[in-house]
Amino acid sequence: MVQVCHTCHDDKFKQWDTSVHAALVTNGNPTAPICTSCHSPHTMIKGAAAAMDTVPCKTCHGAIFIAYATSVHGVLRTSGVAQAPLCFSCHGAHDVRVPSAGAGRRDVCLGCHTEALDSHRAWLPNVDLHFGVVSCPVCHSPLAKRVVDLILYDSATQKETRQPVGIPRFKSLTSSATTRPGLDPTTLMTLLSTLDSQGVEGKTAIRGRLEVSTGIEDHELTIATQAISNCDSCHQEGSAAFQSVVVSVAGPAGIPIRYDANKEVLSSALSIDSIGGFYAIGGTRITFLDVLLVLALLGGIGGPSAHLAARWTFRRFLNGPPREPPREPLHDPPHWQPKG
Ligand code: HEC
Ligand code: HEC
Ligand code: HEC
Ligand code: HEC
Ligand code: HEC
Ligand code: HEC
Ligand code: HEC
Repeated sequence: MVQVCHTCHDDKFKQWDTSVHAALVTNGNPTAPICTSCHSPHTMIKGAAAAMDTVPCKTCHGAIFIAYATSVHGVLRTSGVAQAPLCFSCHGAHDVRVPSAGAGRRDVCLGCHTEALDSHRAWLPNVDLHFGVVSCPVCHSPLAKRVVDLILYDSATQKETRQPVGIPRFKSLTSSATTRPGLDPTTLMTLLSTLDSQGVEGKTAIRGRLEVSTGIEDHELTIATQAISNCDSCHQEGSAAFQSVVVSVAGPAGIPIRYDANKEVLSSALSIDSIGGFYAIGGTRITFLDVLLVLALLGGIGGPSAHLAARWTFRRFLNGPPREPPREPLHDPPHWQPKG
């Protein structure tokens, strides 16, 4: 059916063809959209797809639309602020991608909020690191439940590891995750070596990121004064943010599949090597980072120099092996561009 439209709308077709929706269609998903799911072919009304009331995404992603409509952006959009984003401003209309891939989410937000890096720097030490490992909604959807997402990826291609098909071992390993308390450190290690023996190009590595627990919560963004600014909400022994852990791989159409994991994987000597770059301060083991945090706080949150000095002083003592560079390239090209 898309070929009918392809004849005249080559550009839109090509964009759609790269989307997660097209991948789903190719994989035989009967509910994924083709052109006519979003553009009624007979009642084509100019601009309908771009209006709040008739945006096609809401027919299939209804719960997300409701969360969005009451978010700071949705409320602004309803009240006529045209610069406030609607679904396709962040996701694209045709070339819809899986949002968690790479640095896409952060970059799309920063595409409009160009001043955000500087404004956060005024109170948050090491903004690049925080923005790299904490997704924006973690602080800006303050009521959301937070999870540590350990994303498996191929260190050679830097792409999310695909869930292998037809490997019984993988199934039996991850099925331990469907029953509480989920993947334990030993099983995670076995999983990594199983994946490595299945012909990935590099070594399977782990990139840790603090995220919200559901796609709905990603859209519950509030006004900035309600955002989480309290350092303790993350940097405290037993912080709620580090109590839930998931391990994720990419499913057949690239959509992440999350498996529950035991929170011990964050601190176990077995898995620490592979999780290296992600220190869940307080919640786990890095006492010296806690000391740094106290110093940063004593020096005043606005005193990055105290923080730097502290880092310099404690450099040599920071636990064990040298820190790896940030897991995510911080300045890679944006994945998606915001519209307009
Ligand atoms: C998932 C929903 C969805 C699918 C599938 C989809 N579109 Fe769209 N389309 C939209 C939205 C939303 C807009 C408005 C976007 C905007 O204003 O930036 C739009 C806009 C357009 C426009 C108007 C462009 C413009 O610049 O005003 C054309 C033409 C179009 N789509 C054609 C197609 C064709 C052809 C296909 C199939 C290959 C297709 N669309 C598939 C959602 C979709
Ligand atoms: C014979 C050529 C032709 C075919 C086939 C065709 N279109 Fe169009 N379409 C056009 C032209 C011409 C326009 C007007 C473009 C303009 O105003 O710049 C248009 C406009 C549109 C618009 C823009 C309306 C708006 O909001 O401005 C959409 C959306 C669209 N077509 C979708 C489709 C879809 C979906 C299909 C397949 C079911 C399709 N078209 C098939 C020629 C075609
Ligand atoms: C006809 C139904 C339909 C429409 C319309 C539709 N989608 Fe989807 N979309 C799906 C299905 C089915 C999936 C597969 C995942 C799922 O079941 O939620 C999906 C997946 C996605 C994903 C990836 C999900 C993930 O977990 O990473 C995104 C992002 C997305 N859609 C955005 C949009 C946007 C933006 C629009 C409007 C421009 C839209 N969709 C319109 C059916 C639709
Ligand atoms: C301000 C930017 C923004 C807007 C506007 C937006 N989204 Fe999202 N969307 C995101 C972010 C950020 C994520 C989280 C990505 C993640 O965690 O992987 C996301 C995730 C998703 C997902 C995947 C959910 C999942 O289960 O992982 C879907 C589907 C989706 N959005 C659809 C929509 C639809 C439909 C709309 C319009 C009602 C919309 N989005 C509006 C930024 C936006
Ligand atoms: C550690 C928590 C945290 C993270 C992560 C975070 N923010 Fe914020 N953000 C806040 C707080 C707290 C405020 C309010 C500060 C104030 O009241 O001055 C704020 C303010 C804002 C504002 C309004 C003021 C301004 O800077 O223009 C925007 C927009 C914003 N953030 C966007 C983002 C984006 C985009 C991201 C992700 C790239 C992000 N934030 C990540 C906590 C966070
Ligand atoms: C298409 C542009 C656009 C995109 C993309 C976008 N925003 Fe916004 N956002 C706005 C506009 C416009 C406002 C209202 C004016 C303002 O406060 O800057 C706003 C307001 C906000 C506010 C409230 C600011 C306050 O002062 O209370 C927050 C928080 C915010 N956005 C976070 C995000 C996050 C997080 C993302 C990515 C998931 C994002 N925005 C993506 C345009 C955008
Ligand atoms: C939403 C959770 C969250 C909040 C709120 C938060 N942080 Fe962080 N912070 C993190 C995470 C996650 C890391 C990265 C840990 C890692 O990679 O080792 C981090 C890293 C750090 C580091 C270590 C940086 C380095 O160079 O290694 C310092 C210092 C720090 N945060 C201070 C603060 C201060 C001060 C505040 C309050 C103004 C704050 N954080 C608020 C989650 C948070």
